[in-house]
Amino acid sequence: MSAFQKCINPQCGAEYEVSEVIFKCPKCGDLLDAQYNWDKIKVPGKLAKFGKRWASRNEPMNLSGVWRFREMLNFCDDQYKVTIGEGQTILQSNDEVGKYAGMKAGRLFLQYEGLNPSGSFKDNGMTAAFSHARMVGAKASACASTGNTSASVALYAHSCGLKCTVFIGSGRIAFGKLSQSMDYGAQTIQIQGDFDDCMRQVQDVCSKLGLYLLNSLNPFRLEGQKTIMYRIIEGLGWEVPDWIIVPGGNLGNSSAFGKAFYELKQLGLIKRIPRMAIINATGAWTLTDLVNNKKLVWNGGNVDNKIISDYYDDLTAKNFSPHTCASAIEISRPVNLKKCLRALDVCNGVVRAVSDADICDAKAIIGKYGLGCEPASAASVAGLKLLRAEGIIGDDERVACVLTGHALKDPNVTVNYHKEKQGAFSNPPVEVPNNLDEIIKLIHSAG
Ligand code: F0G
Repeated sequence: MSAFQKCINPQCGAEYEVSEVIFKCPKCGDLLDAQYNWDKIKVPGKLAKFGKRWASRNEPMNLSGVWRFREMLNFCDDQYKVTIGEGQTILQSNDEVGKYAGMKAGRLFLQYEGLNPSGSFKDNGMTAAFSHARMVGAKASACASTGNTSASVALYAHSCGLKCTVFIGSGRIAFGKLSQSMDYGAQTIQIQGDFDDCMRQVQDVCSKLGLYLLNSLNPFRLEGQKTIMYRIIEGLGWEVPDWIIVPGGNLGNSSAFGKAFYELKQLGLIKRIPRMAIINATGAWTLTDLVNNKKLVWNGGNVDNKIISDYYDDLTAKNFSPHTCASAIEISRPVNLKKCLRALDVCNGVVRAVSDADICDAKAIIGKYGLGCEPASAASVAGLKLLRAEGIIGDDERVACVLTGHALKDPNVTVNYHKEKQGAFSNPPVEVPNNLDEIIKLIHSAG
């Protein structure tokens, strides 16, 4: 076999077949990776070769922005692959948003993952995970979610005939996302608790009932998310940017991105690895606090588990529940924490937290000059502005911000920001009598 699963803990390093449905190392409980015997895979000698597949995009495996890079996630035969045209996303150069964040012209790029079929980056992961689910003969699936995972799981499950149950925190997810999971036919269970409570429950439910788990604990899901980085490189004419900036929640994306770059470098497909900035919201800043204040590091895989367990014990003692208007990243016990530490190590990364006010301002600017995004996604641009102010990122470095979800996912935050004039870029609607003269006067007064 060219692929296998491997425990990320170097002290353990246990290996398992890809056909095993385990999600955590049965020996030591740590996270698992999908790994490859690269000498058994015909990886193209140049990344540009993947781009040539566009020419035959009438074939579903070439149309998919994930499976177009199939040799890089070679764990499953074509017969099991599920695709609904995910990954048709664009990398947009955006000088106006760049100017807002303090960048020179031509240096900021926005990777629009909201253009996926379910409106978020999750589809990159689900096409891969559902393919694995079909490969192992799963009949029913489940996930915990702050909203986008549930929308994506529901869409893929009904596309390939699996049953699906999604767990969401009561009152914690945006309406666009809730509407999707109901509309796509998922059994939607609202738990009286937050995402972290849902995450705990879904793991127990999956192991008790034998449901296939689709959270980012699932290593095959993260294999699909690697392709977001390949497409950024593709968008830059097969060149690597200086920085990748990504919002951090459950830390699946950042983990996948680090793995993507590590593998590309190992295979000689890129010469250097970009730096990565992971951005939390201040109301859900576990990663920032652990890395910047508690000095938690990957340390060659010998992570100081006590720092983490003490931190979580403290959260429990305080009965802490995270709060941010960026509900997608309202998470205080990120399951991929250790993989993320590894990614920070690989990418010489930094971690920051930004306020809800800064997130909403950045979101309004992205909406005004770009294609729009949901609040969590805008954390990336707010984070760039902060890192520019700190001088960590130079104004002529080439930066790609990942915009993880579509603007229509969370209409409430957007409407409130504008109607209630919450920020400097609020653009509220203006009431006018039903009278032509009054309407014309109003339009003139706006200049
Ligand atoms: N941005 C959006 C729009 C998201 O939905 C999420 C995560 C993130 C960023 C954070 O990504 O977890 O890889 O660090 N949403 C998950 C969900 C948790 O359930 O939809 P991450």
